[in-house]
Amino acid sequence: MNLPVAADPLRSAVLDGLRASPKRLPSAYLYDATGSALFESICALPEYYLTRAETEILQRHAPEMARCIGPGALLIEPGCGSGEKACMLLQHLEEPAGFVPIEISPSALQAAEGLVRGRFPRLAVHPLRADFTASWSLPADLAPGGRPVLFFPGSTLGNFDPTQALALLRRWRAIGTQAVIGVDLRKDPAVLIPAYDDARGVTAAFNRNLLARINREFGADFDLQSFAHEAIWNDREGRMEMHLRSLRAQSVQVDGHRLEFQAGETIHTENSYKYTVEGLGELARRAGWQVAACWKDEQGRFAEHLLRA
Ligand code: AVI
Repeated sequence: MNLPVAADPLRSAVLDGLRASPKRLPSAYLYDATGSALFESICALPEYYLTRAETEILQRHAPEMARCIGPGALLIEPGCGSGEKACMLLQHLEEPAGFVPIEISPSALQAAEGLVRGRFPRLAVHPLRADFTASWSLPADLAPGGRPVLFFPGSTLGNFDPTQALALLRRWRAIGTQAVIGVDLRKDPAVLIPAYDDARGVTAAFNRNLLARINREFGADFDLQSFAHEAIWNDREGRMEMHLRSLRAQSVQVDGHRLEFQAGETIHTENSYKYTVEGLGELARRAGWQVAACWKDEQGRFAEHLLRA
């Protein structure tokens, strides 16, 4: 089932961001086919502990999560990615009413749908093509009697600033009565920084791919080697930041506009907020949820929260 998807709202955000001061780019633009493949590689890096920590939580605690969620869940995963993590929960849910993967990219949506259908041939899968950050709703006749449960793993919530994160949780409060939210926890920057600036340079390639994508899609002429990847811990905001720093004074043409970069000037490309369990609880309460349970990996790096309306 397809919802109408706006022409390309990201395109204007790209141009606006590059003309702003300080310069910025929307982090959602990181995920074209190349960026999504690079992100999959990041997840397997020794420095990027997030995926392993969350997988450990799901392997150990999914049976208990499923008991807490109860029977008849209609599992909804906004920005579902591969669908792999949903499978880890679905296999323990009692008589799930269905699975609703939500993705804007048709190929990613198809892949998640294929994976889940392959593993659970009897489960009703209802793919929804939509931008999950915009407003979307479930068709009224979908899985009557099913209890909608939002599933948002991977610390994707951390890529939204607190106001946006609050708005997302509020909107989802109107859709489901339970939500499972995975967030990365605050920790020593000595652990965080390598996770976003790995020795093999995969995260650097992921960040620079933004410029390659703008070259491809806007006919721009960014010289990728003139921009350095930077990962910074911003203690005041409680977030990791990715930037691209111009290594020299340069002028770049984007979509018929000439943009000037001073030597050392940066483009801010991503925020990854790191939560405390209390901070996530407070955000959830402001959005109309209560934290019913929280599970951490053994090293306390990552936490999966069960929220109830
Ligand atoms: C998708 N998201 C949760 C990742 C993160 O950790 O913020 C994206 C990422 N950026 C750099 N490395 C991974």
